[in-house]
Amino acid sequence: MAIQITRSGQALGAAIRGVDLARPLAGDDTAAIRAAWLAHQVIYFPDQALTIADLERVSRAFGPFGEDPFIAPIPGHPHVIAVKREANETTPLFAEVWHSDWSFRATPPAGTLLYGVEIPPQGGDTLFADQYGAYEALPEATKARIAPLRGVHSAARGYSKEGLYGERDKGRSMTIRPSDDALATQAHPIVRTHAETGRKALFVNMGYTQSIEGIPHDEAWALLLELFQHQQRDEFVYRHSWAPGMATLWDNRCVTHKATGGYEGFRRELWRTTIDEPLAVAAA
Ligand code: SIN
Repeated sequence: MAIQITRSGQALGAAIRGVDLARPLAGDDTAAIRAAWLAHQVIYFPDQALTIADLERVSRAFGPFGEDPFIAPIPGHPHVIAVKREANETTPLFAEVWHSDWSFRATPPAGTLLYGVEIPPQGGDTLFADQYGAYEALPEATKARIAPLRGVHSAARGYSKEGLYGERDKGRSMTIRPSDDALATQAHPIVRTHAETGRKALFVNMGYTQSIEGIPHDEAWALLLELFQHQQRDEFVYRHSWAPGMATLWDNRCVTHKATGGYEGFRRELWRTTIDEPLAVAAA
């Protein structure tokens, strides 16, 4: 059966049907899925039945595994983490702030693949925001102001020993390993040109961007707050509802995302890999 692509009807996102991810992907299908991913930024595959090994194979079809610092992998699967929350867990929600995965790395992952294993009957949606659209909608004066600037990213707010998931975070079912490594910083252009589409996207996020190179902190923070508020406006947002067996692939180069709650009393578990740019893309 040919691949069918159905747009979400929101700011971004499309469902992909007519492909069984539990079987090796044909070359044509991989190319069609990659094209859909680049066009729609978030693509989701309902009604799959995947093992962890399947998820690893699908992930590898789109690029090398990314590194996942600070979170212990699933035993025997060094590149897969479980994003989970027990029914009675009371810790702050994981990933509830807008972010682009691991943007504090020198080479942040191009993509993230997340697979719904146990999904609550209500709540637990993931929100995605279109950062091409956010950039394009900025006033020309703001575009000119941010064009030469580099944002400074760090994992400190989340993963340092004093961070949200640090030494005071007790009772979490995910094994997070806070570390002083989270204090390291990495600068990236605030306006990022996507390596595959050539389009410009806003590349800052509330989770990890903490300052702007060469600008006094108060001034930088005022500009960042303006950009954070702008980039998550409703018109850029797609609300993704999960179902068990749904695999979702997003493009960290042009979307930000955040988890949401609303499923108190229910367990939620998803398996996640991150995907670096294929060498041919990274070298281009
Ligand atoms: C994530 O940011 O990887 C997790 C998103 C979610 O749990 O909805």
